[in-house]
Amino acid sequence: MIAGVNFNTCIFNTSGPADVTLQELEVVGRSKSSAITMKSCTLKPREGNPEPRYADLEFGSINSMGLPNLGYKAYIKFSKILKKKYKKPVIASISGMTLKDNLVIFKAFNDSPVDLIEFNPGSPNTIGKPIVGYDVDAMDKLLDAVSKVCKKPFGVKLPAYLDLVHFEKIANVIKKYPVKFVTCINSIGNGLVIDPNKEKPLIKPKGGLGGIGGRYIKFTALANVRKFYELFHDKIQVIGVGGIYSGIDVFEFILAGASAVQIGTAFLQKGPRIFDNVQNELKKFMEKKKYYNIQDFRGKLKYLN
Ligand code: DHB
Repeated sequence: MIAGVNFNTCIFNTSGPADVTLQELEVVGRSKSSAITMKSCTLKPREGNPEPRYADLEFGSINSMGLPNLGYKAYIKFSKILKKKYKKPVIASISGMTLKDNLVIFKAFNDSPVDLIEFNPGSPNTIGKPIVGYDVDAMDKLLDAVSKVCKKPFGVKLPAYLDLVHFEKIANVIKKYPVKFVTCINSIGNGLVIDPNKEKPLIKPKGGLGGIGGRYIKFTALANVRKFYELFHDKIQVIGVGGIYSGIDVFEFILAGASAVQIGTAFLQKGPRIFDNVQNELKKFMEKKKYYNIQDFRGKLKYLN
């Protein structure tokens, strides 16, 4: 259960480059992903940043997509089709460029069949737009306004925090509002991957800077899940994302306190079979440990004495 909504498994897709079109979302619908998360949407359709804007790396990915999406109206339409066709939760991701845009989009989704909304304030790749998660006051203002209009259960996708003080500051803001879950973590912003032979970056936007995903970010993601699990005492659920390729990765996230996990880079790299594979591996590992339900071990990370 996430925010009172039933999920068949604790594993589903994250909002990302492979969730933009209806065709792509239907791939998620047909897969074993327990929900369909749609691409972060804006008021108007966006083409996004110039290509190349995504690259696979040995242990993950770099992207600077720049929020290419079909505009929120398309995702309201898609949610109706997806809800009818696939019996699983549909999650909208909202990433308006301004407070006003966000309010228009949130209001419109109130009258859609989406089960949950993930608010994604400030992608790391939109040129000229700050990462809102690093600005406590901006986050406060946005959550205040969104809370007043949103009638669906909603959560917030957060950037990676690295300083323990920041976890507390952002948690204290989030606690003021009816936020049901946080999703940790977004890709880690503004990495630079260089091809030493060409002496060039791998991607074109922002001089080569882009969000890092995949195995490179797993340990940071786990720490973020853990810290928010401790700070929210389960009053606000935590969804983990970042570097999940195997069932044991999922196990670790749940042990840290996640109520569910999302898969991003590994879905792009391995295709929709990743959801079956990871689920089967988790089941096997749980059987070996004699756990029958994820609640048997969720959050129960042990400490070294
Ligand atoms: C994009 C990247 C993100 O990490 C995000 O949260 C939203 C959008 C993008 O570049 O499209």
